[in-house]
Amino acid sequence: MRALITGITGFVGAHLAEELHNQGYEVFGTTRKSCPNAMFANSAIQIIPMNYNSEEDILEILNKIKPHEIYHLAGQSSVKMSWENKVDTLETNIILTVKLLEALRKSDVADSAKLLMIGSSEEYGSIDNENTPITEEAVLRPISPYGVSKASTSLLFQQYVKVYGLKLLYARPFNHIGPGQDIGFVTSDFAKQIVMIEKGIHLPNISVGNLEAQRDFTDVRDIVSAYTMLVEKGQIGEIYNICSGKPHAIKYILTYLLDLSFNKNIQVKQDENKMRPSEFPIYIGDSTKIQEHIGWETTYSIEKSLQDILNYWRIMI
Ligand code: GDD
Repeated sequence: MRALITGITGFVGAHLAEELHNQGYEVFGTTRKSCPNAMFANSAIQIIPMNYNSEEDILEILNKIKPHEIYHLAGQSSVKMSWENKVDTLETNIILTVKLLEALRKSDVADSAKLLMIGSSEEYGSIDNENTPITEEAVLRPISPYGVSKASTSLLFQQYVKVYGLKLLYARPFNHIGPGQDIGFVTSDFAKQIVMIEKGIHLPNISVGNLEAQRDFTDVRDIVSAYTMLVEKGQIGEIYNICSGKPHAIKYILTYLLDLSFNKNIQVKQDENKMRPSEFPIYIGDSTKIQEHIGWETTYSIEKSLQDILNYWRIMI
């Protein structure tokens, strides 16, 4: 079986590539970077530079590889960055997705390949109290450019299933964390600063954003196992939340990481630049549908994820 991952060199892409490789797949991945081979340790995973702006280029790659499964991970994944680069976020997440869907429907594998599209809990945006925990039926009222971009892809998803009969599935993951995640996301932002302080590279103060928000965190290793299970056993045309169902305050994450630190004298400073123009106070997902349809559930505790993230940065710095 051949799997193709767009955006393979990203945080989730790297974990997914390993997972599929371990399951015995022949794994191909695309990246927009020009010198991709230097970036991947496992040489069995074949990386192909792709011009995401060119539908012809995408079509050529699909017809050459003839994947049985496609995982569309490429995109702009930072909510914060989406406020700073609105046009790029909309172009990267919406236009690129349309080009992939167009290429797929014109390709030799249009009738056979399954494609998993990746949305986000940010699509839900502003949620009424009575609609928490959030199910897939909740009305989409995104409150960030990133949320708008992903809500748009879920509408496109429904059209391409109905109109062209493509074998598409749609994942709506809530926050995912784990070793390898870049800075710009909360757990890596905190863990990297703590390790820099431990190593004496940084003064003993950590800069943070909004600590009051509560989010539903899942380890990336659980997320990629949900992705492969969905493609194997999920229903075509369906949208699936991927979440733990347990909210954690950002303050809890910070406190837990500070407790794990070797340095017990770290001062916390709130940084106005790390606050968002708008954000929803609490997201809790409902994972009943994915549990019932494919039997997926989380296996990593948040504490285990945080320990692994801190250790990752201790090795990297
Ligand atoms: N990044 C960051 N850095 N966030 C901080 C910080 C900080 O120093 N301090 C507090 N926060 C708060 C943010 O305000 C937000 O409420 C929460 O921590 C999580 O922020 P992120 O880790 O940046 O994630 P996100 O919720 O904006 O987006 C992530 O989750 C989405 C699913 O809900 C991303 O992984 C998206 O790609 C994903 O779709």
